[in-house]
Amino acid sequence: MISLVIPTYNEGAVIEQTLRRAAAALRAAHEEFELIVVDDSSADGTAEIAESLGREFPVRVLRRPGRLGLATAVLDGWATARGDLLAVMDADLQHPPEILRPLAEALRQPDTDMALASRYTPGGGMTGWSWIRRFISWGATHLASSVLPLTLADVSDPLSGMFALRRSVLDGVQLNPLGYKILLEVLAKGRYRKFTEVSYIFEPRGHGSSKLGPRQYLEYLMHLARLARSTRQLAAWVRYGSVGLSGAVVNIVGVYFLAEGFGWKLLAALPLAIQLALLNNFIWNESLTFRKVPAADEPRKGLFTRLLRYEVICFSGALLNAGVTLILADHGLRAALAAAGGVLTGGFWNFLLNVPAIWRVWGASRPRPA
Ligand code: GDD
Ligand code: MN
Repeated sequence: MISLVIPTYNEGAVIEQTLRRAAAALRAAHEEFELIVVDDSSADGTAEIAESLGREFPVRVLRRPGRLGLATAVLDGWATARGDLLAVMDADLQHPPEILRPLAEALRQPDTDMALASRYTPGGGMTGWSWIRRFISWGATHLASSVLPLTLADVSDPLSGMFALRRSVLDGVQLNPLGYKILLEVLAKGRYRKFTEVSYIFEPRGHGSSKLGPRQYLEYLMHLARLARSTRQLAAWVRYGSVGLSGAVVNIVGVYFLAEGFGWKLLAALPLAIQLALLNNFIWNESLTFRKVPAADEPRKGLFTRLLRYEVICFSGALLNAGVTLILADHGLRAALAAAGGVLTGGFWNFLLNVPAIWRVWGASRPRPA
């Protein structure tokens, strides 16, 4: 049986349609189900409408006193669930209820413990979004993947609010979420083997308004930081950052000796210095940063393959580094200072864009066996 939690805060205009379509989708999946509306004292009759539908199909309402947050609403709902499968989706029809069917069906695969609705797998997307909203969404997603690279290595839409899982994933797991993003919490702490992603189109909101505000953005950042700490990825991050700094020093000192000391042309000194820095980083990351990080299920690729992948991923940053160094030197800056400017730019670039890919060179700790 699947227990679907639908958190609501003033969704009276759509809740009936949402519940009807959800029930139809789960029937179509031939899945026994219960719908649990967790309502935070909506003033627009959301709870009453949902309750009145209880005569037609299994739906019940959990009422909470005042707005207590989306993530805890989901957990409170699951706490009363009777199914061996748990699920969640929004009430406002931005998550098409029909996707429940493939989500439920995915969990019939014996070793699949989670099924995630994703906007970022082929066939997925969002309609009616301006490029600025897309960019913010991409930024928030990329930020999560960068702060929690091990948890999210293979997850295309970690901020999704629609997913299903086996109850056993949460057995003995202490969830302690903050704000909106319950999936992050489940991915970081749950015990699952495989997960499947099901693509979907995030629909425009028909009625009412998004309940996301500045407070939710701040909570999101705090939640990321807290998860980084509790999953020990923060410690890995500190090692990774220190290694990056040591590489910067190697790069600058290399240019200093080669160009200023031995009088090499900058164009000859740069590739060598940058290559030395990359090698320095690779060796330290290999022996220090990721040594204690649990390896993925799949065996790690060989040392040489790892090095090659590392070099390929860092290439764009290296190119930027060299370009900026050459331009700065052209403007009369001494070689070592120009190199510092280049390292800063290239490092920032890799830092901003390539962190998830770079960490993946050493394998993800996920998924881990249940
Ligand atoms: N019980 C309860 N308490 N429900 C809440 C609360 C709350 O404090 N805040 C929001 N909700 C309900 C809304 O009524 C809606 O059903 C759902 O949670 C999502 O809220 P929205 O305000 O519509 O969120 P969004 O559209 O900006 O973002 C949603 O979609 C994203 C993309 O999939 C969220 O579900 C995100 O988690 C999701 O990533
Ligand atoms: Mn919404």
